[in-house]
Amino acid sequence: MPSLPVILTGDRTTGPLHLGHYAGSLRNRVALQHGHRQTLLLADAQALTDNAHDPARIARNVIEVATDYLAVGIDPALTTICVQSALPALAELTLLYLNFVTVARLERNPTIKDEIQARGFGRDIPAGFLCYPAAQAADITAFRATLVPVGEDQAPLIEQANEIVRRLNRQVGYDLLPEARALIPEVGRLPGADGRAKMSKSGGNALPLSAPDAEIAAFVQRMYTDPGHLRASDPGRVEGNVVFTYLDAFDPDPEAVAALKIRYRRGGLGDAALKERLAGVLRDLLGPIRERRAGIARDPDAVRDVLRTGTARARALTAETLGAVRDAVGLFRL
Ligand code: TRP
Repeated sequence: MPSLPVILTGDRTTGPLHLGHYAGSLRNRVALQHGHRQTLLLADAQALTDNAHDPARIARNVIEVATDYLAVGIDPALTTICVQSALPALAELTLLYLNFVTVARLERNPTIKDEIQARGFGRDIPAGFLCYPAAQAADITAFRATLVPVGEDQAPLIEQANEIVRRLNRQVGYDLLPEARALIPEVGRLPGADGRAKMSKSGGNALPLSAPDAEIAAFVQRMYTDPGHLRASDPGRVEGNVVFTYLDAFDPDPEAVAALKIRYRRGGLGDAALKERLAGVLRDLLGPIRERRAGIARDPDAVRDVLRTGTARARALTAETLGAVRDAVGLFRL
């Protein structure tokens, strides 16, 4: 039997996941776990690269994010869920890869540049942060992943990982490690309720997966529509209208949404009715996730067991890759 394509992706454990993660990655992963060998990495070590002042928060959120995974339908029988900081092979590979990349190249990485800007590091960039692309290359290659589902913003990291792989392969003279391809979802990033480009917890415009119905309603209520659409009878704009963006992303009945767009453009559909539909769609989506999440959260030891099993499996796999790389590079063997 041909082996299944290998997927690796992960999340920094900085906080519980939200609806933006669901649209951009979680629901894809639930589908991808069939027909692929999928591993999800709880990237707590990477989260420390810009949160070293608060390791307790990063540690606490390992269980939170794992609980989110299970609540949306990631099945540990199909997907390996593991903890980055508990995989020493990743740290060892990172150390080696740092010699295959220059500081100038790290500084030129568009993702790193944007993130340095966004975090306001100025000249005080933690070295671990600047170097995390090498660590991410270690993550990807340690699992010999060829597919990496990530948001568009992560594409330069996959490119940089491939550069490291090519340098290493050229040096050893054969394809020791595979290159990987970014799998970027078609639905772009979900805007926040205020229409800003991205739903984010730090931006204060994120809807957590565990949001109760009242929070869902309030979130939809704040949503930006068309400022020129004052009365229900006025013609309204669909483009840039956040409510429609969300209906496109989540409404299970796209034909009904198409009909609503026609009515909205023509005039005769009020924002209140439109928002009521979206609130219903989100209640139907998040209600079952919230309930499953609450059930799982009552038994954190069971979640811990899932992580122990997944991490043990990942430890064996990543140690094997590390051994192959050490041999190929020709490190001293004691
Ligand atoms: N950098 C990713 C993010 O911020 C998280 C991550 C860590 C990751 N290691 C990875 C993603 C390996 C894909 C592959 O979301």
